[in-house]
Amino acid sequence: MTPSTATAVASAITTTGLSKSFGDKVVLAGIDLRIPEGSIFALLGPNGAGKTTTVQILSTLISADAGTAYVAGHDLTREPGAVRAAIGVTGQFSAVDGLLTAQENMILMADLNHLNRAEGRRRAAGLLDRFELTEAAAKPVSTLSGGMRRKLDLAMTLMGDPRIIFLDEPTTGLDPRSRRTMWQIIRGLAADGVTIFLTTQYLDEADQLADRIAVLDHGKLVAEGTPEELKRRIPGGHIRLQFADADALESAAALFGSVTRDDEALTLNVPGDGGVPALRSVLDTLDRASIKAEALTVHTPDLDDVFLTLTGRSRSGDDAGSPKESTR
Ligand SMILES: Nc1ncnc2c1ncn2[C@@H]1O[C@H](COP(=O)(O)OP(=O)(O)O)[C@@H](O)[C@H]1O
Ligand SMILES: [Mg+2]
Repeated sequence: MTPSTATAVASAITTTGLSKSFGDKVVLAGIDLRIPEGSIFALLGPNGAGKTTTVQILSTLISADAGTAYVAGHDLTREPGAVRAAIGVTGQFSAVDGLLTAQENMILMADLNHLNRAEGRRRAAGLLDRFELTEAAAKPVSTLSGGMRRKLDLAMTLMGDPRIIFLDEPTTGLDPRSRRTMWQIIRGLAADGVTIFLTTQYLDEADQLADRIAVLDHGKLVAEGTPEELKRRIPGGHIRLQFADADALESAAALFGSVTRDDEALTLNVPGDGGVPALRSVLDTLDRASIKAEALTVHTPDLDDVFLTLTGRSRSGDDAGSPKESTR
């Protein structure tokens, strides 16, 4: 097989009109993607949106009903073997064997990837070290924390040296610290030139990691762009100020340009991203006018704001667990 001619930004994943239904339930209704090599792409959507289905199709685990897809330059349906050789997948639910030790799981992957014994051990040791799992190497995986399991899962995937990695909700269920560690690992992989396709339910995660984000809703991409482009469309971020009386509310409202106010609750919402500079500026403004706020809360835009803005309704993350009456 001749490798496809390299262009400046070759595409790692390209899909056109990708569609999938389960019975009469339409899960994907024509998905078009173009993900450049070496970039981080985030597919953002609530529970049941079709994120895992997309990952399963692109990693050849299930087939699409319609549409075309190229992964690592190979047609998904005609060259599934070549696609599988180029990719790594870590699922939403960890694939590691709980009875084996971390080290044994890694060696298992070395065997699956036909590495010779010495090379397998060398790579396993290197990856365990890189992910700070060396101390856990001899422990049965069932005794490891969720964060460590996730890291091990990813380390196992990397034994095959994939150029494209699918990460299905890599941080769901992790504590904040493990979440940040995982983010650093993902950034490190991208810095090595690996293309990352990740799914997430968290706007902040997509914002932190992705070069481009696509929002999946009812089988369609309802938005696609850089985090900046997306956030510009979402006016959800604000700082909420609570006042003791109507006078204070009145004077404060006059200080800030565009605010929404609630005269009954005695609150003002000042638009802002919730960062420290924005916060400081609001407090300074109040200080200079000698107005006292009783309380202050920061609201950063989240997936709900994304969906409210893009679709005019709250996220409908409920169809995952509901009975299959499937109206759409
Ligand atoms: N094998 C299957 N058979 C029937 N329905 C399925 C199957 N897999 C997924 N679904 C349905 O497809 C929808 C999308 O699922 P999924 O891709 O897992 O969503 P997400 O990963 O975004 O939470 C859900 O409504 C789910 O119940
Ligand atoms: Mg899923």
